[in-house]
Amino acid sequence: MIHGVYTDVAALGSAPAGEVRVRGYVRTSRFNAHVGFIELNDGTQFYGAQVVCDLDTRPGLAAAAKYATGSSLDVAGELVFTPEARQPFEIRAASVTLVGDCDADYPMQKKRHTLEFMREMPHLRVRTNTFSALFRVRNCVSMAIHEYLQSEGFMWVATPILTGNDAEGAGETFGVTADSSAGDGGFFGKPASLTVSGQLHVEPFALAFDRAYTFGPTFRAENSNTTTHAAEFWMVEPELSYADLEDDMEVMEGLVRFVTGRVLERCPDETAFFNDRIDETHTLTARLAKTRDTDFRRMTYTEAVELLEKSGRDFKYPVKWGLDLKTEHERYLCEEVAQSPLFLTDYPKDIKAFYMRLNPDGKTVAACDLLVPGVGELIGGSQREERYGELIRRMNEVGIPVESLSWYADLRRFGSVPHAGFGLGLERFLLYVTAIGNIRDTLPYARTPGNMVF
Ligand code: 4AD
Ligand code: MG
Repeated sequence: MIHGVYTDVAALGSAPAGEVRVRGYVRTSRFNAHVGFIELNDGTQFYGAQVVCDLDTRPGLAAAAKYATGSSLDVAGELVFTPEARQPFEIRAASVTLVGDCDADYPMQKKRHTLEFMREMPHLRVRTNTFSALFRVRNCVSMAIHEYLQSEGFMWVATPILTGNDAEGAGETFGVTADSSAGDGGFFGKPASLTVSGQLHVEPFALAFDRAYTFGPTFRAENSNTTTHAAEFWMVEPELSYADLEDDMEVMEGLVRFVTGRVLERCPDETAFFNDRIDETHTLTARLAKTRDTDFRRMTYTEAVELLEKSGRDFKYPVKWGLDLKTEHERYLCEEVAQSPLFLTDYPKDIKAFYMRLNPDGKTVAACDLLVPGVGELIGGSQREERYGELIRRMNEVGIPVESLSWYADLRRFGSVPHAGFGLGLERFLLYVTAIGNIRDTLPYARTPGNMVF
């Protein structure tokens, strides 16, 4: 049995002093005639374990001096706590066994590489400080999302990735074909694509289970080469019954604040690293604590447009009531005006999707975006149009064939209830909590226009 006798580096801090056995990769090592130090990292926590080789008492350990950065080792020795030293514990090696040697052209050497350089090597960058921290935070955020929604009574359902609908009506879908079996109308007898959003498929679950959410990969063929758009990204989409936009925003805020708190609590070394080494202003930790502890600001789209018009700023894109806001406008509003996460509500109906509930003014819909500093839009959500007649009118207005979504409209005929939901982009959230500047560095294997490294 290979497992069993080993301890993760993350568990060493709370293990009893004494004999231990660990495995990991050499980050660095330095040896002189009497003693050698190997920094061994196994990815289970930010800091590795320091392995000390006392060559005076165990001359055989001198062979370890030639184990290169990147090679994998199996180390047995004595765990010793060293509260007075920089590292809280070390392993005094009894044996150091080479598991897998590392060629000299291993690209992740000690010297710092740019994120762009490492982007070309997604299979190796995960062993570096930055990406190992990032993906541990990604894991923490994903689990905290489930934890929060489960505790709030949401049932998880995985809606399909292959779909016959384009939920957002934006037409930016990846088509799916199965050439070998394409008969008339292809594999499914009708066009199929990769989902852009699970919303339409999760609404029936909310209307059967009171509260439900889908959390999985979504795909958009937007040809926008920005730092916040990916072609494949993960989205969590909660949907709640007997709810209006206000109830919806309460869940959004609760979720963002809870998950931010979990990151601070469960990933303190990672957060400190991002604060010190990635965030240029070194204020990340303070910003996250404020997000966790402070109510979010709110304003209507109409108020936001007035503020933008009065700002005196020379924006690249025009600002006018009725036009959609661009990232530059969103970032001005949350970074300079609100200096906090900011809900914008009640957008003009013509720049939003057909399923959003029309407000009594007849011009705006009960929709909101949550904007956060450093990123822009983190969440898009709305109260849904639960009135059958209004929904059909709106579909006709925007040119969506009612037959194609008759099942969706049915929900408004068979015991319709007011309901609302939202979608939060996991990678945008990671940009926010790590201060990493590019969405390509938050995905295990990023897919963006013109780019798919294996
Ligand atoms: O605002 P969006 O398009 O909303 C929807 O898809 C709704 N159906 C959600 C719902 O109400 N259930 O997308 C939601 C979020 C955005 O706020 C953003 O965080 C993220 O998904 N997102 C992207 N993230 C990365 N790359 C992209 N290309 C993204 N497009 C949207
Ligand atoms: Mg949106």
